[in-house]
Amino acid sequence: MAENKDLFDVVADFYPPESIEGVSWHGSRVILTLIDVEEDEVKKQALTKELEKIEGIDKVTILYTSERKVVNLSAIRGDAERSSWMIRGVKKIIAVASGKGGVGKSTTATNIAFALKKIGLKTALFDADIYGPSIPTMLGYEGTAPVSYDGKTFEPFEVMGMQTMSIGTLIGKDTPLIWRGPKACGALQQLLSDVNWHDVDVMVMDMPPGTGDIQITLSQQVRIDGAIIVSTPQDIALIDAVKGVNMFKAVNVPILGIVENMSYYLCPECGHREYVFGENGAKNTAEKLNVDFLGDVPLDIKIRMHADEGKPIVESEPESLFAKNYIEIAKKVKDKLKL
Ligand SMILES: Nc1ncnc2c1ncn2[C@@H]1O[C@H](COP(=O)(O)OP(=O)(O)O)[C@@H](O)[C@H]1O
Ligand SMILES: [Mg+2]
Repeated sequence: MAENKDLFDVVADFYPPESIEGVSWHGSRVILTLIDVEEDEVKKQALTKELEKIEGIDKVTILYTSERKVVNLSAIRGDAERSSWMIRGVKKIIAVASGKGGVGKSTTATNIAFALKKIGLKTALFDADIYGPSIPTMLGYEGTAPVSYDGKTFEPFEVMGMQTMSIGTLIGKDTPLIWRGPKACGALQQLLSDVNWHDVDVMVMDMPPGTGDIQITLSQQVRIDGAIIVSTPQDIALIDAVKGVNMFKAVNVPILGIVENMSYYLCPECGHREYVFGENGAKNTAEKLNVDFLGDVPLDIKIRMHADEGKPIVESEPESLFAKNYIEIAKKVKDKLKL
């Protein structure tokens, strides 16, 4: 059984992850396009069988191609199917994603959002992490219900000049399981289109961790202008980061780059940098995947403390080295988005 495995895990048992050129979902039907691998009927049938064991997938069609972008997603899917979740009042959307949970995705998303605001952009932070929404805690609006003036749409929360909303305001902390799958997607879609975002230049979206069907659906349905992958430096985390990069490539979302979080421990006494998990892991991975390395952030108790206390470090200690790291990353993002 392909239990607990997502599409990318299953494909990886048969082909290298970079051979996934495209994945398109049509309800429970999936079209998978593989590039630069030899067509092999036996392998094709075995892979199809394994993929059809995944919950939510009924039928799989595997296509082989040798020309990148010839058989691509928009060709298969038709452009009309893309960007069908309307988000009004927002110019650009970036997704902050990670191959797995616990790497500091939300902390990074929050600080990058505040850094983008610091460099002059009107910014929003949307928490789409149905598995563990943590933005309300990080920005201190946990347990507060959103306001509606017309009984149909919600006003975003406004915290330290940041417009923000979280799927956590709709789903309780203790009930994430039942919200997985299509139900969670429905709730997300509704929330995204029902918030009155006010004239936002860039929205930072904290994605659910992983590369399953929810993440793929979100990346396909929302008009995402770029994705940032957060990883810690350990080999095992980097393998998941590769999956994240390949997922966005597969759905034609531009990769803005990789951020390495908890890169090193900075001794507060002497300033020595201790590379606990080795040096340059994410940088090398980015190079191999031909995507940009956006920067690194050390492991530091202050980053955690300020996150827990509801005031991210970019706001609470704007002159710190940590805030500067995030601002450097934000500048690169701003340039890449041509904002
Ligand atoms: N650079 C960092 N230094 C210290 N603590 C960090 C750092 N990044 C994240 N954390 C802490 O690690 C924990 C997990 O981070 P979080 O952003 O919630 O991860 P994710 O969203 O990937 O699950 C949190 O307690 C957070 O404060
Ligand atoms: Mg999180």
